[in-house]
Amino acid sequence: MSNYHIKHLEEYYQVYRKSIREPENFWEEVAEEHFMWRKKWDKVLSWDFSKPEVKWFEGAQLNITENCIDRHLTTRGDKTAILFEPNSPDEPAEHITYNQLYKRVNKFANVLKAQGIKKGDRVCIYLPMIPELAVSVLACARIGAIHSVVFAGFSSTALATRINDSDCKMVITSDGSYRGAKSIDLKGIVDDALEDCPGVKSVLVAKRIHSEISMTEGRDFWLQPLLDEASDECQAEIMDAEDPLFILYTSGSTGKPKGMVHTTAGYMVYTAYTFKNVFQYREEDIYWCTADVGWITGHSYIVYGPLANGATSVMFEGVPSYPDFGRFWEIVEKHKVTQFYTAPTAIRALAKEGVGHLEKFDLSSVKVLGTVGEPINEEAWHWYDDNVGKKKAPIVDTWWQTETGGIMITPIPFVTPTKPTYATLPFIGIQPALMDENGQEIKGNQVDGRLCIKFPWPSMARTIWGNHQRYKETYFSAYDNKYFTGDGALRDEVGYYRITGRVDDVIIVSGHNLGTAPIEDAINEHPAVSESAIVGFPHDIKGNALYGYVTLKEFGETRDHTNLRNEINQLITEQIGPIAKLDKIQFTAGLPKTRSGKIMRRILRKIASKDTSNLGDTSTLLNPEVVQDIIDNAL
Ligand code: PRX
Repeated sequence: MSNYHIKHLEEYYQVYRKSIREPENFWEEVAEEHFMWRKKWDKVLSWDFSKPEVKWFEGAQLNITENCIDRHLTTRGDKTAILFEPNSPDEPAEHITYNQLYKRVNKFANVLKAQGIKKGDRVCIYLPMIPELAVSVLACARIGAIHSVVFAGFSSTALATRINDSDCKMVITSDGSYRGAKSIDLKGIVDDALEDCPGVKSVLVAKRIHSEISMTEGRDFWLQPLLDEASDECQAEIMDAEDPLFILYTSGSTGKPKGMVHTTAGYMVYTAYTFKNVFQYREEDIYWCTADVGWITGHSYIVYGPLANGATSVMFEGVPSYPDFGRFWEIVEKHKVTQFYTAPTAIRALAKEGVGHLEKFDLSSVKVLGTVGEPINEEAWHWYDDNVGKKKAPIVDTWWQTETGGIMITPIPFVTPTKPTYATLPFIGIQPALMDENGQEIKGNQVDGRLCIKFPWPSMARTIWGNHQRYKETYFSAYDNKYFTGDGALRDEVGYYRITGRVDDVIIVSGHNLGTAPIEDAINEHPAVSESAIVGFPHDIKGNALYGYVTLKEFGETRDHTNLRNEINQLITEQIGPIAKLDKIQFTAGLPKTRSGKIMRRILRKIASKDTSNLGDTSTLLNPEVVQDIIDNAL
């Protein structure tokens, strides 16, 4: 029997045990059975976390695009690979079949080659969520160029830093992008960035918004005429298993962004295997992940994982609030989406708008719901479960990271009983460990600690581009012989994991460790509260005290809500204990967020500590304007 698709809990435990006892045999079987190899491996795994060095499927040769496209052509050539839903509901959706994707990727690959791009060169992709984004990613992979996608919401400074860090030779962009009712001048941002990027030799420009832009002679080229000229056959570059596939930047707690390097074979095997199991994917499904391809979620679970399975993957250009807050649900109904994967921040934003928008649409096609990116609070979990899944679609709360490449801790729908706010069980092959502050592993259940992984998995990042030492220090130095995730987690009485948040968000108050996420959960239970963030600030007696930033569903004129403050502290006292009560509560119109929706606690911490002299670069925030308001009204 194939171990590719897990069907019930007993089978999960059985397969899990095998994957731990005999990891090499296990992953070899998965790799043997389901992929197209030009040459099989000589050795499944070699590893040494002290260097650190990890190699999977060494000696194997392949091209990931042959696995994501070519091998589907005989059986699924006319099946939709990418279902593009544009920003405006008035623009028709585009169904790109596997046959068409093959041609588009090959043409694009030939254009890259004609521009002098070859195996190992870095290509920066700065595009909105249009088909060219997926196509250009795959075109790079086709010829062995290393793509570095930068989310097209980053500023020109952030873009330039990333281009230069990995010496990209080329940038692929568009004239502009649509975002709800707005349009953004992407090419202008690229032009600004390139003033500081002498290594970039050419810029390919896709036409999206038909705006007037300036083209630099000899450097900038409209994409379409080049594609029109190019042949739609391009032989795939034969890659070694450990050849880099892409670089993706993630912000570190300090310093410049880290260019996480992912390699080819292990990444492919793991993202394909997780996709199939975590979403219980079936051939006829219409799968939709609302992330941007500019993030790891989009790389692994819009592009590579789904396409390696021959799936139909929806790619949505727009935002959940345009033209109104019913847009997600309209798309679900329109395309009969079967798996819907989004972020808690989106769920909370939608929940705030009430269920009116949902009720207009038929969501009965949905079988599985997913969340990713941050801990999901209980209220949002139930809202999602009650109103979107109608209690029939299991929620997979998937914990993972840019660094892990694929989903690490997650329920398997219809297999693992879910529990609100719990990511539940390690995925097949994943060996988590909880560590105490003395570097000892905490065994047993009903414990909490720092989350590490003690054995390699195929899709782990292999290094930080240009800085292996930083890779070692960040991830492999905190604990001997273990990958340190930077997250805290608890393990309940049955062995389910709940991610409590970044360890750097843990605040020690009077000697007690307090996770911010459970306190925020408690606050968010208050019916008047929309969202909240807790940070620590120095306190004479307690060491640290808690400062809460709270946004209300209805903000109103006054910021003096004495009763509300008392009620919030009462809720915290009830759910966690008086130790977790907040010393200060500031009501704010919004919380500063990164483009991926993460609350920028660093800024909030500084404001709470009355240290606003150096807040760092706030220009890449989603909502930079809220920062000044918070400073002006700080307590
Ligand atoms: O703190 C964890 C949180 O997001 C971090 C990784 O962020 P990033 O590299 O941007 O990748 C996000 C998409 C995979 C983790 O260290 N995180 C991610 N998923 C969850 C989560 N926290 C709680 N529950 C999750 N499901």
